[in-house]
Amino acid sequence: MISITDLTKVYQMGDVQVNALDGLSLEIQKGEFLGIMGASGSGKTTLLHMLGLLDLPTSGKIVIDDTDVLALTDYEKTMFRLYKLGYVFQDYALVPDLTVMENVSLPAMLRSDRTEEQTRNDSYGILQKIGLSDRRDHIPRELSGGQQQRVSIARAMVNKPDILFADEPCANLDSENSRVVLDLFREINEKMQQTIVMVSHEDWHKDYFDRIIHLKDGKVVHP
Ligand SMILES: Nc1ncnc2c1ncn2[C@@H]1O[C@H](COP(=O)(O)OP(=O)(O)OP(=O)(O)O)[C@@H](O)[C@H]1O
Ligand SMILES: [Mg+2]
Repeated sequence: MISITDLTKVYQMGDVQVNALDGLSLEIQKGEFLGIMGASGSGKTTLLHMLGLLDLPTSGKIVIDDTDVLALTDYEKTMFRLYKLGYVFQDYALVPDLTVMENVSLPAMLRSDRTEEQTRNDSYGILQKIGLSDRRDHIPRELSGGQQQRVSIARAMVNKPDILFADEPCANLDSENSRVVLDLFREINEKMQQTIVMVSHEDWHKDYFDRIIHLKDGKVVHP
């Protein structure tokens, strides 16, 4: 479970203060597929960055599976991310010069408890699952946007994280590829009981989520 209490994030831009998160509290259940919606600038990406331990809030508390994650050292945070969290970015964020297989293997290679063979098997297995094993030796720009996003999901999944964060993963995809990606998330969520927290601004994505929260001005609102 994820428990967020009174989270704030203030960005200082010269003389101007932006309250990107303004006392946000929220609980996310284990195994939930949660959709986060809200207007541009409402704080969705900022919230996901805090939960993914990619940036520090100004104040507040985040507890993930009984760990007070903001109290961890930088090294412990890195390990926590590596063992428990996966992150999918809007723009895929694949390494351009590495093959599909190498991109997917990266997070597994960083883990000291995985042998090279395990890493290879896990990476190949997840590529098969998403239907891209025949593209394993291609580099990202030889793939379509939808295929690249599926590779980035495979990379986020290769360490079998308990929680998957995705920030507008379909923003650069047409509706057909969006459905492929959303179906994949749904399957991951149902078959592996993975918690998924996904940011979206497309109304029709609502059908895929177990629950939706709306952000406005850095807070959860109840419309
Ligand atoms: N690095 C930053 N420095 C300064 N201000 C920032 C920074 N990142 C975000 N902000 C500001 O914080 C607020 C929330 O931004 P955020 O990116 O979280 O919104 P969002 O809901 O993800 O929007 P979008 O739907 O456009 O992606 C905005 O006013 C934004 O300008
Ligand atoms: Mg955003």
